[in-house]
Amino acid sequence: MSTTDIYRVFAERETRGVSPAYERLSRAVAGDPELLALLDTLPPAKRQPNLLFGVVRLRGGPVDDPAAFRAYVIAHWPDVAAQMRVRATQTNEAGRCAVLLPVLAALPQPLALLEVGASAGLCLYPDRYAYRYGDRQVGEGEPVLDCDLTGTDPPRRRPEVVWRAGLDVNPLDVTDPADVAWLDALIWPEHRHRRERLRAAAAVAAADPPLLVGGDLVDDLPALAAQAPAGATLVVFHSSVLYQVPPPRRDAFTALVRTLPGHWIANEDPSVLPHADLPEPPAEGFHNVLALDGRPVAWTTGHGQSLTWFR
Ligand SMILES: C[S@@+](CC[C@H](N)C(=O)[O-])C[C@H]1O[C@@H](n2cnc3c(N)ncnc32)[C@H](O)[C@@H]1O
Repeated sequence: MSTTDIYRVFAERETRGVSPAYERLSRAVAGDPELLALLDTLPPAKRQPNLLFGVVRLRGGPVDDPAAFRAYVIAHWPDVAAQMRVRATQTNEAGRCAVLLPVLAALPQPLALLEVGASAGLCLYPDRYAYRYGDRQVGEGEPVLDCDLTGTDPPRRRPEVVWRAGLDVNPLDVTDPADVAWLDALIWPEHRHRRERLRAAAAVAAADPPLLVGGDLVDDLPALAAQAPAGATLVVFHSSVLYQVPPPRRDAFTALVRTLPGHWIANEDPSVLPHADLPEPPAEGFHNVLALDGRPVAWTTGHGQSLTWFR
């Protein structure tokens, strides 16, 4: 895809109705030859909207007004480009636990959780967060993760987790303020509730930090999986990760994960992890597919706001 198409598609598929500020910026960048030429000096993987907008937010630049944003990026391009080269989009959204929970709670307990592409590991605490599925609350405490659930009943209880580990090419540390600042900058401007959720989830993780290993989801998965304790169900899971992984490595990962004991949960864009015979998504806009052991079971929205069960 050309850079203009990347920004146009981002505006239409991901931000429309979800972040008016980023929708405006994406459309403005898509039609701005000067900004596109600057972005095209970066490697293809570094031209993404979330990375550009996150870096500008991190550096204190404006993201509400496209003209002010444009002026900032052009005036500060060397710094913006340098940050984009060394950073990656590692949005860590604890809210995604709300769409994982119905599947996790139905597996044989207790669980040994292994998340690939874990970022700071905030999705490794599904047993510690509270959930609100309509008028049904599951668990106590903070953060409370709201999710619209259709087609299945909310789980009655949270899973029991006896081991949790994450694998990431660049693990982030929730006890390091600089890493938390980057996670905060990656949250879209209007999403104050997600910022509060990040603080609350980071406090949960910081109180009992997970085992986070720096490594690749293919090369380093077997060794980490081998550390899971006997007597617990190993669950390898990932959410919004495979779009960052080149297609041949995605195939290597899905072949590998099927050879491991236990279960595999994927919550991914179906254009990067395709499934046969998917029903129509329940609404317009971006959806992930939740799949258990390669079998698709539900549509989910990007930050865990809703789940529509179809199997
Ligand atoms: C968008 S973040 C999602 C984080 C988390 N799964 C969540 O849902 O909140 C994707 C993560 O995948 C990691 N990642 C990308 N390629 C990877 C690879 N080959 N092996 C391990 N982690 C990878 C990135 O570093 C990043 O932290």
